[in-house]
Amino acid sequence: MRLLRTADELRPMAGGAFVPTMGALHAGHLALIDAARHLGTPTIVSIFVNPTQFAPGEDFDRYPRPVDRDLELCRAHGADAVFLPAATAIYPPDLEVPVPPLPAVATAPGLEDRIRPGHFAGVCQVVARLFDLVRPCAAVLGEKDYQQLRVITAMVEAAGNRWPGLRIVGHPTVREPDGLALSSRNAYLGPDERGDAVGLFRALRKATTLPTPDIAECIMLDTLQVHGLSVEYAVVRRADSLLPAESLSVPTRALIAARLGAVRLIDNMPMPIHPSPAVEILGRVPSSPDPP
Ligand code: PAJ
Repeated sequence: MRLLRTADELRPMAGGAFVPTMGALHAGHLALIDAARHLGTPTIVSIFVNPTQFAPGEDFDRYPRPVDRDLELCRAHGADAVFLPAATAIYPPDLEVPVPPLPAVATAPGLEDRIRPGHFAGVCQVVARLFDLVRPCAAVLGEKDYQQLRVITAMVEAAGNRWPGLRIVGHPTVREPDGLALSSRNAYLGPDERGDAVGLFRALRKATTLPTPDIAECIMLDTLQVHGLSVEYAVVRRADSLLPAESLSVPTRALIAARLGAVRLIDNMPMPIHPSPAVEILGRVPSSPDPP
């Protein structure tokens, strides 16, 4: 496995399968590396805690950075190269790194874009810069950060030929045995909070059994409150645009952001498609008793 620090060292790796990360790797990241390896072209992992996607007061300074352990995990999972740039390799002092035009899914849904204004500008800035440097043929991203996955996919589609042939590959969320989605930020949870954090998974799982977006949203709120989570959003949206969905007859996604004390958690799940919503709802009305 090669350890690359500069844009020059990266040049011979063009055409690889790319897994961008901020490190503190867990089994979710490792599943992305495994999936990238199966694409049959060299696998490149980047580890860079990108300052421009954190707002002042967020956890940039205390974000975990266990670099030696991360490199060992990348090696064990068969990565061909790790790009571990100094901040100046991404943001050289003599270069203005532009923020690409933000797609509608980065600004219109009122989800992460509302709670973390500026976040997707930072994500698009660093991911576009990484794509320019790495020149991958595929990038593997987790569904865990579903809006981010849609934003990066839309950014690439809108960029025309800037990254020729680049394909964005989404990977399902990897979970703990009780359902909690793996996240580098789970390390911030105390033992009591860890028990309540599973509320996001439980709320999402219940939502997937319900017949309409409205009902699913009500039940998610209830479940989250029972677990003592303070809800930022708990919604069912169209899976592509993340705009409101009137029914489940199109692909939709349930998405949650909630806080346990100072720890912010996000998670999401695909909703099953109900081909004919009206029939589905009528089918649940109890039949009237037989007349006497
Ligand atoms: P980071 O949070 O390190 O995540 C890196 C990748 O791992 C993302 O694509 C994320 O969706 C995925 N991931 C995280 N937890 C996962 C899980 N439980 N199951 C499956 N995939 C999971 O996301 C970022 O870094 C940054 O914003 C980045 C794209 C690197 C830009 O700085």
